[in-house]
Amino acid sequence: MALLEVDKVSKRFGGLLALNGVSFAVEKGGILGIIGPNGAGKTTLFGVISGFIRPSSGDVHFDGVRITGISPDKLTRRGLVRSFQIVQTFADMTALDVVTTAALTRRPIREATDYAADVLTRVGLGKKLDETPATLSLQDKKLLELAKCVATDPQCILLDEVMAGLTMAETEAPIGIIRELNRQGVTFVMVEHVIPVIMRLATSMVVINFGEKIAEAAPEEIVKDSKVVEAYFGEHLDA
Ligand SMILES: Nc1ncnc2c1ncn2[C@@H]1O[C@H](COP(=O)(O)OP(=O)(O)O)[C@@H](O)[C@H]1O
Ligand SMILES: [Mg+2]
Repeated sequence: MALLEVDKVSKRFGGLLALNGVSFAVEKGGILGIIGPNGAGKTTLFGVISGFIRPSSGDVHFDGVRITGISPDKLTRRGLVRSFQIVQTFADMTALDVVTTAALTRRPIREATDYAADVLTRVGLGKKLDETPATLSLQDKKLLELAKCVATDPQCILLDEVMAGLTMAETEAPIGIIRELNRQGVTFVMVEHVIPVIMRLATSMVVINFGEKIAEAAPEEIVKDSKVVEAYFGEHLDA
């Protein structure tokens, strides 16, 4: 059964068609990888799915319900949550404050702080509860972004370039966390430039180029597709 369905979604920014009739579905328990060159429309697509951007046309369904135009906070309560490519936090909040705020989605205040500390420990930030996000390393900032999502008890997490900027060794922690959450039933949609990582995690892949879906297949098939190689791997051969 599809948990998330994107149906002919288009988004126009003035004269620019950032998304043009994009459709795909994500099975419950799956990990969908989305790749595509810079400016292809991946972050815009996440914005539409997560309710931050209203599409010009098309629909999004989640868990059998049409969610097009529903606000991000309501979607979080329905179990659909996103991370941000640029880690966003308030300067004077600690890591524990940030994740506690997320935990309040589904828990009363008296439980939220303990739960947030537990989630931070699970992602490996148990010793950094009182640090402000600005003082954290990039890897820890990414883990905090993941913890924020996890603390909302989601059914589906949208991850926007959560591995970007990390060394291969540093990607092992988030990969392990994603695998464990997925084993517990959490569905993922991941935008990722780090091809070896997405190849290891994804159960299916979608390729976006100039706002259009140009391919959809299993990870091992997608790298053999000539359209994909031309649009994407041609300029990322070093990856
Ligand atoms: N709020 C916006 N207003 C105008 N243009 C935008 C806006 N957001 C994104 N774009 C444009 O839409 C295109 C797709 O951007 P984006 O979704 O960020 O791509 P990606 O995440 O694949 O790199 C780009 O040309 C970008 O400049
Ligand atoms: Mg992006």
